Amino acid sequence: MVKVTVCGAAGGIGQPLSLLLKQSERITHLSLYDIVNTPGVAADLSHINSKSKVTGHKGPEQLEDAIKGSDVVVIPAGVPRKPGMTRDDLFKINASIVRDLATAAAKHAPKAFMCIISNPVNSTVPIVAEVFKKHGVYDPRRIFGVTTLDLVRASTFVSELIGTNPADLKVPVVGGHSGVTILPLLSQVTNKLSQDQIEKVTHRIQFGGDEVVKAKDGAGSATLSMAYAGARFALNVIEAAATGDATITECTFVDLAADAQGGAPIRQLVGNDVPFFSVPVQLGRNGVEKILPLGSVSAFEKKLFEAAVKELKGNIAKGASFVTNSKL
Ligand code: NAD
Ligand code: LMR
Repeated sequence: MVKVTVCGAAGGIGQPLSLLLKQSERITHLSLYDIVNTPGVAADLSHINSKSKVTGHKGPEQLEDAIKGSDVVVIPAGVPRKPGMTRDDLFKINASIVRDLATAAAKHAPKAFMCIISNPVNSTVPIVAEVFKKHGVYDPRRIFGVTTLDLVRASTFVSELIGTNPADLKVPVVGGHSGVTILPLLSQVTNKLSQDQIEKVTHRIQFGGDEVVKAKDGAGSATLSMAYAGARFALNVIEAAATGDATITECTFVDLAADAQGGAPIRQLVGNDVPFFSVPVQLGRNGVEKILPLGSVSAFEKKLFEAAVKELKGNIAKGASFVTNSKL
């Protein structure tokens, strides 16, 4: 039995993400939570002839029912960017939304794998971690920032340049999920790019979200590509938990304490005041099975790390102190 709850299920990401999850044979109960419109979305999805039962839950008074006993909680709840905004500009609204959803999860689904999509991910993941700590149920192996869209974009953009099938090209992207904190490790996948191409495509991957925000012109940010990426990530977490298949790996923003041994060399590189970092991980029955080595990093990429670490420090501290200063 696998219960998955999507929080923010009626939104731009939530609806297509729920549609993709509805197609999974592993999921037995798909629970849709939002503050609006979930009865309609749930009724609609429930007619699809796949295995899972679908339930809709609307408003805070139905949150406990929605989330109780979940094995996986995916959170794309909150506001998206408009042109001219940074992800950090969303903190004011999204921090308390994520804190309150995390509180419900800590109380009613403390063992759930938490997949956090809501921005700013560099801060919302530390928020969830602090909430779980406050409730005495923190397991760093089970809380993930979903950075998969950065990897999806990297595969697409690099393939366009070197003429490979993007579905076959895996580009590791580490660090965080905003601008200069997004660190594609292109040197590990190709030597076909000139330095000028490397710099341009690195910038495109780091600021790919802006392309969509600009094109949507006030109507939000990436939703469909994010739903694809979010479903890929959540389904990999579910598959690894069910099978223990050691070949399932993803880059994801986690507490490096999730695997002290694997995290140690990365802590050495980024410093102790950057406790969260997106790293390649092997997923398993309990979430993070192993933090894998970052691999070789070129001189150009090393420089990018410096800028990333500087910004990440502040983002992480901001999320953590928001919870320290909140009454729960
Ligand atoms: P959206 O506005 O279309 O949908 C958000 C949904 O959240 C809405 O249905 C809204 O009713 C719901 N919501 C608001 N408050 C809630 C609460 N307290 N509890 C439950 N649901 C609540 O926005 P979207 O385009 O789906 O984006 C959602 C979030 O995902 C944004 O913060 C966005 O920046 C982020 N995002 C992250 C990534 C990533 O790579 N991690 C990619 C794209 C978007
Ligand atoms: C993205 O990378 O598309 C998301 O983080 C949404 C955004 O604000 O750009």
